[in-house]
Amino acid sequence: MTGGPVASRAAAGFTRRYAQPPAGLWAAPGRVNLIGEHTDYNDGFVLPFALPQSTVVAAGPLPGADAGEARWTVWSEQSGEQISFGAAEVAEPRRVTGWGAYVAGVVWALREAGLPVPPARLAVASDVPLGAGLSSSAALESAVLTALVDLFGLDLPVTDRPRLAQRAENHYVGAPTGIMDQSASVRCRAEHALFLDCRSLETEHIPFDLGAAGLAVLVVDSRAPHRHVSGEYADRRSACESAAERLGVPALRDVTADDLDAALGRLDDPVVRRRVRHVVTENARVLETVDLLRAGRLAETGPLLTASHASMRDDFEITVPEVDTAVEAALHAGAYGARMTGGGFGGCVLALVEAAAADAVGDAVRTAYAERGFTAPECFTVLPGPGAHRLS
Ligand code: GLA
Repeated sequence: MTGGPVASRAAAGFTRRYAQPPAGLWAAPGRVNLIGEHTDYNDGFVLPFALPQSTVVAAGPLPGADAGEARWTVWSEQSGEQISFGAAEVAEPRRVTGWGAYVAGVVWALREAGLPVPPARLAVASDVPLGAGLSSSAALESAVLTALVDLFGLDLPVTDRPRLAQRAENHYVGAPTGIMDQSASVRCRAEHALFLDCRSLETEHIPFDLGAAGLAVLVVDSRAPHRHVSGEYADRRSACESAAERLGVPALRDVTADDLDAALGRLDDPVVRRRVRHVVTENARVLETVDLLRAGRLAETGPLLTASHASMRDDFEITVPEVDTAVEAALHAGAYGARMTGGGFGGCVLALVEAAAADAVGDAVRTAYAERGFTAPECFTVLPGPGAHRLS
């Protein structure tokens, strides 16, 4: 079961803070993106899978409350803080800041969707690494959303939940992210990767049974200090959007690999040309990866992963020396492929390796880091876990 010890911490935290047991426990995972980076807000394709690590919300209605005194209280086991907010704070964005904004944002977005949330008490615990580019914020949003929808029987189909959680992040928290992370956290399935068309929001669960293939995905937390992440992210996003406008298409998704040279010929700025080339080639790599996985040829996806990294490094320019070092060291130690995963400027690298070689590849990355004087990375293997669900 997802997050055994995490679920116990959330339940115990609830009972301790509120002197009664929770009405239920709900979990939502962080994610690793196998391939398809910075394609989501270009209406393109992504292929994430859910981490076994998750955020668990213990929740219960506020006893004796009536609609006039709407209040939500949230205890965090991680930070040891309790926050409380009321109707005024969810009437408009950004009234709650810090980690509480992800919770208040979900209540705000539900209310905006015509689904007012009765007063509630929550306790949150998580083992998704924070600030490592593994979507700890989407895990929190999705866990809170799943808990509130289920607890109060709100009418919100699973297919509509990622968009609502994304609205919380975009409009309430104020981060201009795409739809990938919330989709992964809500909709992934164990032993599968989620092939998502970010325009139609159609999904297909692609079998990704690493164990049966004798393979493992090694995740390396680069521990690189995040450098201007949000400004750079917004900058990449607006460069893509203005390039699409100049090319006369709704989004860069509409430029195919066959159109690429003609499209590049119509753009003067070499930086914008590189950004466009990344998005267009990355979409094509996602489709090729999906074809290989459908055919059960998992190890053969390696070169596509590595090509994705080169494209992020050279064309989208979102890597940093730590992640480039981790990718090079993993490949040198025999990984089939390796790439940075997530928004960039630090975060995690994933390497597709023979299961028996995972430790040796991790050692090689640690050695390369030590030689360059970088802070030692964290390395762990992951298997695709389930999306958001009720635990009890
Ligand atoms: C972050 C965002 C996602 C996506 C990735 C890059 O994780 O939250 O929406 O854009 O970066 O692929």
